[in-house]
Amino acid sequence: MSASNNPAGATSAAAAVILRLPRASDRDRVREIVEATGVFRPDETPIALEVFDTAVRAPGTDYWAVGAYVSTRMAGFAVFGPVPCTLATWDLYWIAVDPAAQGMGIGRRLMAHCEEAIVAEGGRLIVVETSSRHDYAATRAFYQRLGYEAGAAIPEYYAPGDALIVFTKYLRPSASE
Ligand SMILES: CC(C)(COP(=O)(O)OP(=O)(O)OC[C@H]1O[C@@H](n2cnc3c(N)ncnc32)[C@H](O)[C@@H]1OP(=O)(O)O)[C@@H](O)C(=O)NCCC(=O)NCCS
Repeated sequence: MSASNNPAGATSAAAAVILRLPRASDRDRVREIVEATGVFRPDETPIALEVFDTAVRAPGTDYWAVGAYVSTRMAGFAVFGPVPCTLATWDLYWIAVDPAAQGMGIGRRLMAHCEEAIVAEGGRLIVVETSSRHDYAATRAFYQRLGYEAGAAIPEYYAPGDALIVFTKYLRPSASE
């Protein structure tokens, strides 16, 4: 039964997921997840690994990472960080969930973690860049569902016929501030 017609199962599956800092040993699993999603071009995989490596080597500097684990196996990850030359604008550099675990709330939990960490660091704006391609329709729906707004588009950015869509979300300061 798929997660989409088994909401109770999806909820319990998401509850079993643990979020934590990834380790360098998760690198091969990151590659597997990125490749398995089927939306990234082959030349994007080394870039994903590069930002992951940097986040794991020096957490909390330029790149921050979070992994979602079912038992000890990574099911998804996100990498985010402050945008240089801005005042408290942050970028979601990468997010991917293993297709076998999609639709269970893992992406939502990863995004919630990113947003909480960004708010805690005084961030006020999150920017997410994605593609206008048909196979990214689910991804765009995901961001919209989580309150992100499509703020700008640059036609032909990634490739002919493939525009850049910039999603944004303005964050409220945490209650303690
Ligand atoms: C985008 C992605 C990270 C979402 O992760 P996920 O674990 O499947 O998402 P969730 O199950 O947490 O869904 C969160 C919300 O988005 C909505 N959503 C997810 N996919 C959707 C779709 N295809 N259509 C409409 N809504 C969708 C869900 O309904 C859910 O809303 P709800 O919690 O109110 O029910 C995942 O699909 C993925 O890895 N995609 C391929 C890689 C990618 O595109 N990365 C981003 C590059 S910019």
